[in-house]
Amino acid sequence: MPRIIADDVRKAFRLRHTHSIKETALAAVRRKPITTDFRALDGVSFQIGEGEAVALLGFNGSGKSTMLKMISGVLTPDSGEVLTRGRVAGLIEVGAGFHPDLSGRENIYLNAAILGMTRKETDERFDSIVEFSEIEQFIDTEVKHYSSGMFLRLAFSVAIHTEVDILLIDEILSVGDEPFQKKCLARIRELHAAGKTLVVVSHDLDMVSDLCERGILLRGGTVEFDGDSKRAVELMRA
Ligand SMILES: Nc1ncnc2c1ncn2[C@@H]1O[C@H](COP(=O)(O)OP(=O)(O)O)[C@@H](O)[C@H]1O
Ligand SMILES: [Mg+2]
Repeated sequence: MPRIIADDVRKAFRLRHTHSIKETALAAVRRKPITTDFRALDGVSFQIGEGEAVALLGFNGSGKSTMLKMISGVLTPDSGEVLTRGRVAGLIEVGAGFHPDLSGRENIYLNAAILGMTRKETDERFDSIVEFSEIEQFIDTEVKHYSSGMFLRLAFSVAIHTEVDILLIDEILSVGDEPFQKKCLARIRELHAAGKTLVVVSHDLDMVSDLCERGILLRGGTVEFDGDSKRAVELMRA
């Protein structure tokens, strides 16, 4: 049974061309449109099965983050459908899901609750979440004082300590320092071995094609290739 189904997904963003009131007025007089629709995803379909690790590949602007946001439910498609089965955790934007005025500790509970954990479940895992994040010292500091690396540490740690079925990772690992990246990667491999479904976006093409057996290559909002991840990387580099 599939964990993720994307069926003919389309998403357009409205781009504004003018900025000042004068420009807007002139555009109205000349009957020129002041916005155009940009198709970020233009009929994307795929299915991802239980336990698969999939690299989502493509150059900047090809629609990778937009696709992950649809899978996580942050964005909805204009047409088509995205279906998921099970709990989804998305490490998509640094600091997303964190409340700036709350401490690291409070944000752990907040995030865990968003991921469907009870207070008791979080209590049980709290020490281990903090330990993995290596930011014990700052756990009672408001997260608005955190660096992006510290956000990553906390967000990643919460996500991997929850009972998720699907884990989405967008670039985010690149904000961490190398030892922490290595540690995250080792943990991601463990989750894969434990049968979790992964969708990963990373600039590190060798790393993702090694981690994931399958690659979906997006170009201009459409699927150019879906198959062996090493082949997908070759096609992207070609
Ligand atoms: N909120 C938005 N408003 C307008 N355009 C957007 C928005 N989000 C993404 N886009 C545009 O959609 C395209 C795909 O973006 P994105 O999914 O972030 O690509 P990728 O992650 O592959 O770099 C880009 O051209 C981007 O500028
Ligand atoms: Mg992106």
